[in-house]
Amino acid sequence: MKDSFADSDLRETLLKDSIKLKSWTLTPKQMNDLEMLITSAFYPLKGFMVEDDYLSVLDTMRLSTGELFPLPITLDVPKEFSESIEMLEQICLRDPEGLTIAILKVESIFMPNKQHEAEKAYGTCDEAHPAVSYLNHQTNEVYLGGEVVALNHPRHFDFLEYRNTPSSLKQKFLNMGWERVVAFQTRNPMHRAHFEILNKAALETNAKVLVHPVVGLTKPGDVDHFIRTKCYKEIVKRFPENSALLSLLPLAMRMAGPREALLHAIIRKNHGVTHFIVGRDHAGPGKDSMGNDFYGPYDAQELVAKYEDEIGIKMVPFKMQVFIKERSEYAAIEEVKENETAMNISGTDLRSILKEGREIPEWFTFSEVSKILKESHPKAELQGFTVFFTGLSGSGKSTIANGLMAKLLEETNRRITILDGDLVRQHLSSELGFSKEHRNLNIQRIAYVASEITKHHGIAICAPIAPYAEQRANARSLIEPFGKFIEVYVSTTFEQCEERDVKGLYAKARKGLIKGFTGLDDPYDIPEKPEVKVDGASSDPVLEVNKILDFLKSKSLLF
Ligand code: PPS
Repeated sequence: MKDSFADSDLRETLLKDSIKLKSWTLTPKQMNDLEMLITSAFYPLKGFMVEDDYLSVLDTMRLSTGELFPLPITLDVPKEFSESIEMLEQICLRDPEGLTIAILKVESIFMPNKQHEAEKAYGTCDEAHPAVSYLNHQTNEVYLGGEVVALNHPRHFDFLEYRNTPSSLKQKFLNMGWERVVAFQTRNPMHRAHFEILNKAALETNAKVLVHPVVGLTKPGDVDHFIRTKCYKEIVKRFPENSALLSLLPLAMRMAGPREALLHAIIRKNHGVTHFIVGRDHAGPGKDSMGNDFYGPYDAQELVAKYEDEIGIKMVPFKMQVFIKERSEYAAIEEVKENETAMNISGTDLRSILKEGREIPEWFTFSEVSKILKESHPKAELQGFTVFFTGLSGSGKSTIANGLMAKLLEETNRRITILDGDLVRQHLSSELGFSKEHRNLNIQRIAYVASEITKHHGIAICAPIAPYAEQRANARSLIEPFGKFIEVYVSTTFEQCEERDVKGLYAKARKGLIKGFTGLDDPYDIPEKPEVKVDGASSDPVLEVNKILDFLKSKSLLF
């Protein structure tokens, strides 16, 4: 198992030649996949999948050469880019700052059937599954396949002492004399139940412990890896000396349950691990749109059990652990006796505890971990959020948005920024017109700024027309990882706005002096489920502002 790095002579030549090659700037997910590929963490895969491998993996969980590999690892690019590429052409894969990471020799250019991919890889087409949603909305339409030769390791600046390639980790195990290692996969902060699982697993298998969390893309809304890693560092200190190690894994998770568990086992084998813990609902994506689980709680264990010998790793299965009050200890839920009280805190419960600023019980989390989590989760009323107005030109968006800002400033000490349609057009989007493409760009910019404000616990009030449902949905998905997104529809009829015509634009549009005018010859998609609907034609805008304030209070976003 050799990594994909070019030796120094070849590297020099390829680096020089790479200037002439077409280049592709990798997305964060592609950066994760490429790092896993070039370090051999995805061994036996040596590059992005060619069509034969892709189809074979979907149908049989095997590469076309017969080796086990459960999920597609593909490089998606837009159609126009793929059309500029010839077969066997080399392209330069760059990180977002322009650093060349690898050269891809294109051996396959193909258009995936995304529905087939979703059904096979994830067992569902339901967009409540994060990987299906990613596939449908954030994945380009053409895949390029072929082997990669690495020229530079992806750059990291954070937690460097905890980042290992499979070979550097194996070397560490060798240096420490660790022959048996049990790995724990996680994308969540670790609590006492996890610590107990790891202790029991280490004892059962007579192995050392590898805390091996995923720090690539995980499920939207997860605690970010900076906070998590601070927690892991504390947990690792609790193990006896020379018995536990923390190492970060740059994997982009697919939340693909059983198939993903199998991939996790292969990855751990590649890192020199001998035992791998698979718990309840491993890599589970949550509930589907009907409120049901996507996979059975122990499906992942069943699948890994089937292939553990072939992979060459021993699975350590774990049932759900709960705290038993009377015994003051953790045990599998099945072991709880009739007269005993089983206690647990779900991820959702924990989020509300943190939001409301309540204490996390000591039986659930070690105090040093609680402290980190509490510091990084301000109470709900101090979290950032975005109020996103939408409505026709002249519907009253600016009036109500400014009214809302004034009331918020009166009632709170929060930092507030208004991103009004006209102001944004003046300061951020002065070169843009009103074509579909330009309007989308305009909203993207607003959403980006609002997401930054929200991330830093401010309040963003946006008031563009934002006429297309899709662009509003994109804005929502950009902002929601950092805080609430409240869509406010300022409802009016076209006629009411035309009658007002404060800026005289409707008259000009009627005369044909303005083309592509919203509501006249350019569409306005009425929001189907806005969080708040206000009446733009109301004779009392104060009442409309109060509707929004009431909503914000009902969501505990204000005192
Ligand atoms: S968009 O679609 O969200 O990017 O539009 P937005 O940036 O909010 O528009 C800002 C103001 O531009 C004026 N205007 C037009 N509106 C609609 N269609 C066309 N073709 C057009 N040309 C100029 C309009 O006055 C918008 O301001 P508001 O505050 O909504 O009246």
